[in-house]
Amino acid sequence: MSRAAMAVLLGVAAAAAPAGEVEVLHWWTSGGEAKSVDELKRALATQGHAWRDLAVQGGGGDAAMTVLRSRVTGGNPPTAAQLKGPAIQEWGRMGVLANLDDVATEQRWDAQLPKVVAEAMKYNGHYVAVPVNVHRVNWLWINRDALRKVGTRAPQSWDEFFALAEKLQRAGIVPVAHGGQPWQEFTTFETVALGVGGADFYRKAFVKLDPAALKSGTMESVLTTFRRIKAYTDKAAPRRDWNQATAMVIRGEAAMQFMGDWAKGEFLAAGKVPNKDFLCVSAPGTERSYIFNIDSFAMFQLQSAAARTAQRALVTSIMSPAFQEIFNLNKGSIPVAAGVNMGRFDLCGQESGAYFTATAMINTLVPSIAHKMAQPAAVEDAFKETVAAFWNDERITSAQAMDRFVAAARPKP
Ligand code: BGC
Repeated sequence: MSRAAMAVLLGVAAAAAPAGEVEVLHWWTSGGEAKSVDELKRALATQGHAWRDLAVQGGGGDAAMTVLRSRVTGGNPPTAAQLKGPAIQEWGRMGVLANLDDVATEQRWDAQLPKVVAEAMKYNGHYVAVPVNVHRVNWLWINRDALRKVGTRAPQSWDEFFALAEKLQRAGIVPVAHGGQPWQEFTTFETVALGVGGADFYRKAFVKLDPAALKSGTMESVLTTFRRIKAYTDKAAPRRDWNQATAMVIRGEAAMQFMGDWAKGEFLAAGKVPNKDFLCVSAPGTERSYIFNIDSFAMFQLQSAAARTAQRALVTSIMSPAFQEIFNLNKGSIPVAAGVNMGRFDLCGQESGAYFTATAMINTLVPSIAHKMAQPAAVEDAFKETVAAFWNDERITSAQAMDRFVAAARPKP
């Protein structure tokens, strides 16, 4: 396809403006993630802009945030950085983000985006960030052959889950592929919290930080269930990257993984087919609810006009239907902008789209605390440390973990 034709497809003016360069900070380094980010590089190249990759290894983005802080405090911000939820507000308050209102008006973002998403992309009523997708966190990924070997259906409840895990263990298959990094433990934990406690409990605990939920009988059950899972992971789990854990499920060495649907990007990149080779099912107890995790890029104020032109091209491309479709087909997520053709999305994507709408209507759509959607960094970090410590050190009791949650939730003087 010619550059001009591609530009039309992306919804941008064929590049008449001088070429610039974008420097983009992100943490998309696994196989599926890299394929997705390539689509963005391609979209920029089509418009004649260069791409400088600032990819920081480390799922969940903790290391990327450290790099971002040093770049911005050093007076050398990138064009764009993968930033989410409350962090957009934190960076907005620092006065370093660019105003994107003109592009937003041109592309009618207010009409294209769900209201909560649009609000999250604004600081002080002005757009400063652009959303890419919606990930659902509360999935369980299952190798279909492994399930066949033990002759059981996908688990519908925690009892069925643990019964299945026992059978798999006896059959010599690692029941749960786990990557022992704090953010992965936190990801599993929030899914268990939703599955055991339900959406209202989840919201009280992790959005409202209500001490009565953070220290409660329900939280105790959540912690107990969470810890029970550990017995079904393998000894080599500590420090393993999430995509290595997914690879174990892909190869059939392990049967299941709790992970958001970026894991699907790995299955697809390995040539696996949903429902044939692997299953995407709601984690036990979470069929009627949805932990959302929205990836977005915040844009930084830039000096040079060419750099600003390239930045604008980046923003426009991200919100174009053609990009939202192709990116999300690779990434495992669903488009966040309206009007994208969902015809090419597989069953997991179709399901995620339907659940996103349905759970919003019945009020069981909740933001991911593990993926920086629910709380500012300081609170999220304190929770994450507690969850990881509880998982890794069996001497820590549920009561102690709950006391730490309550302390983490208390406003600091
Ligand atoms: C991001 C995903 C990413 C995952 C693993 C999450 O926080 O939202 O886009 O694929 O981390 O790196």
